[in-house]
Amino acid sequence: MSDTLGVGLIGTGYMGKCHALAWNAVGAVFGTKIRSSLVHLADISEGCARQKADEFGFKKSTGDWRKLIEDPEVDVVSITTPNALHPEMAIAALEAGKHVWCEKPMAVQLVDAERMAAAARQSGKVAILGYNYIQNPMIRQIGEHLAAGTIGQVNHVRIEMDEDFMADPEALFYWKSEASSGFGALDDFVVHPLSLLLNLLGTPTRVFAHQANPYPSRPTREGTHREVETYDIANVLFEIGNGISGILAANRSAWGRKGRIAIQIFGSAGSILYDQERMNELQIYRAGEHLAGYTTILAGPKHSPYDHFIPAPGHGLGFNDLKIIECYELIRAISGENARVVDFDAGLKIENCVHAMARSHAEGRWIEITNA
Ligand SMILES: NC(=O)c1ccc[n+]([C@@H]2O[C@H](COP(=O)([O-])OP(=O)(O)OC[C@H]3O[C@@H](n4cnc5c(N)ncnc54)[C@H](O)[C@@H]3O)[C@@H](O)[C@H]2O)c1
Repeated sequence: MSDTLGVGLIGTGYMGKCHALAWNAVGAVFGTKIRSSLVHLADISEGCARQKADEFGFKKSTGDWRKLIEDPEVDVVSITTPNALHPEMAIAALEAGKHVWCEKPMAVQLVDAERMAAAARQSGKVAILGYNYIQNPMIRQIGEHLAAGTIGQVNHVRIEMDEDFMADPEALFYWKSEASSGFGALDDFVVHPLSLLLNLLGTPTRVFAHQANPYPSRPTREGTHREVETYDIANVLFEIGNGISGILAANRSAWGRKGRIAIQIFGSAGSILYDQERMNELQIYRAGEHLAGYTTILAGPKHSPYDHFIPAPGHGLGFNDLKIIECYELIRAISGENARVVDFDAGLKIENCVHAMARSHAEGRWIEITNA
């Protein structure tokens, strides 16, 4: 295998910049043998693409993403466009023999997620999804504690994901309020907690969900109002087959919450707490310890792969660092190593859960997930 990986990036918004930063930094942070070469960048117009290519350090630019996919110098494609575009772009890239790093959610329609997983299998290429939160060294620590039995047999888990970027009723209508982007909070937020469950405890085998919409319409740029087609709130009761009951709540209109992913895991011998707003720490309670209180553990170089960023404990990693770790894991997967990634088959499990939740809301009943 060549030591250079030609990178193509489609989309240059919020996530596009995160991918670009990750591709720029990954070699220096991890000292990878394979080095990324920023080859081609695409956005909706050549002008916009050229400007971002210069900012991010890409050689070529295009207003037509298909040209990027046809480029023989591109080995791996980062897809950071709105949800509805993921299937077409990911499948085209896989069919052209490229590896794919696609943002979550995988797809809006379940059938498209299935097509993406099939294309990945058929291509023999690596195809992963942007479930960056599983990369946090503190989440890895939680996994190690669960495996070591620190809190005994897990019996209950609660996860809340809240942000306030859509909390203002006067915030302009944009693609996340369109039905073409999916159900709303389920595809946008709930998929992240599901990736954490997938990683730590397994995905739900049974769900009961309710979705809600605080604002039925939003103002448009043109000064009119447009009906909102997605739900900003989702509440889910769930069970995981091995005796774990759970609650999952997501709200992207939650004033005051900036990046909350609050996890509480309760077991027979203790509990573990974590919140993404304080992503460099976790708290553990062990039953029977004489002080009977939570112990706070601060992230440091002993919590892999923190040590690749800074030698000093307690100085903290940030969101973009999770993307750098995710990029490193992608490179490891491409090198044939057993990497910590959510590939398209695992992503399909998450999509199955989300669609079962939407069905539960529509039918007002528990839905079993047979292929969890
Ligand atoms: N992993 C995470 O934590 C996380 C966080 C936020 C968003 N996301 C996901 O990332 C994706 C993008 O979200 P965002 O917030 O970056 O959106 P955004 O609106 O900020 O950026 C989207 C980009 O895609 C470009 N684009 C749109 N249509 C295109 C086309 N036909 N060809 C080329 N480029 C096109 C836009 O011009 C823009 O540059 C979504 O799927 C979202 O769910 C993931």
